[in-house]
Amino acid sequence: MTNSYQMFPSVVIAVEQLTPLIKRFTFKRQDGEKFPAFTGGSHIIVKMNDQFSNAYSLMSNAADLSTYQVCVRKDEEGRGGSIFMHDHCLENFKLEISSPKNLFELAQTGEKHILIAGGIGITPFLPQMDELAARGVNYELHYAFRSPEHAALLDELQQGVHAEHVHTYVDSTGTYLDLNALISSQPKDTHVYVCGPKPMIDAVIDTCKRHRYRDENIHWEQFASSSLENAESFTVVLAKSNQRIEVMADQTILQAIESLNIDVECLCREGVCGTCETAIVQGEAEHFDQYLSDEEKASQQSMMICVSRAKGKEITLDL
Ligand code: FES
Repeated sequence: MTNSYQMFPSVVIAVEQLTPLIKRFTFKRQDGEKFPAFTGGSHIIVKMNDQFSNAYSLMSNAADLSTYQVCVRKDEEGRGGSIFMHDHCLENFKLEISSPKNLFELAQTGEKHILIAGGIGITPFLPQMDELAARGVNYELHYAFRSPEHAALLDELQQGVHAEHVHTYVDSTGTYLDLNALISSQPKDTHVYVCGPKPMIDAVIDTCKRHRYRDENIHWEQFASSSLENAESFTVVLAKSNQRIEVMADQTILQAIESLNIDVECLCREGVCGTCETAIVQGEAEHFDQYLSDEEKASQQSMMICVSRAKGKEITLDL
């Protein structure tokens, strides 16, 4: 297991309540130095304390590295990190911010780029739009949200430099995004990017495939793990210590291992950072992470034990 992130002691310098559930946090490094450069679509790990660390997309201007900014949606059903951010990470709160990593990069080629955001999924698209505008290529943002009071950054988007590229869809007023019409009417070699709730991601991928988009032209990102939906229990065998551990339906492998006081290195706990990557000795995994490529997932050499599960009743890991 490796942790390829560099961590920077940092401090919260601003907190803004953007919607009833979404806050924007601005961080700077405690040593006053700049944060590392990043490209649109990058995420960072925000380590609040020994208990909570979450991955968030960077939404700040990539040209200004004196601060980083992220938006956090308070998730009462989540693992507690977003609640901690909302309730405890006030101005002057000290935490650790990781170096950035990009698993949701813009393609370097393509006639047109369609960015589709649902709710809090808007955040990675802000620096991406800056990048696309700087390249001088054709791009559109399609932003769907529940109601105007739940739309983070709506005024900034509608009045900012990307305004003429922004299209909005508001559930409460009955304006819905017609994915079929949008995706079927694009020029050849258009790239489509989606970030938002899983049903939206699935619908975009499905629509793109029906309209014969190539896999490499479809890009998606979702941090919140869906691995416990309809999950079943299974057994993990730890090859090095020859222990057998039952992983319950409502548990991750990581939680099951930690409940036995076995220490495993992990950072994000949502399949993003790669820290908990573990080699598979026998059996196959059902992968739910964002970290491994499709080829790596198919090879069944390793898995992210914070979100991925066994395919079948048993899996043996190199632990
Ligand atoms: S802890 Fe980050 S991928 Fe598992």
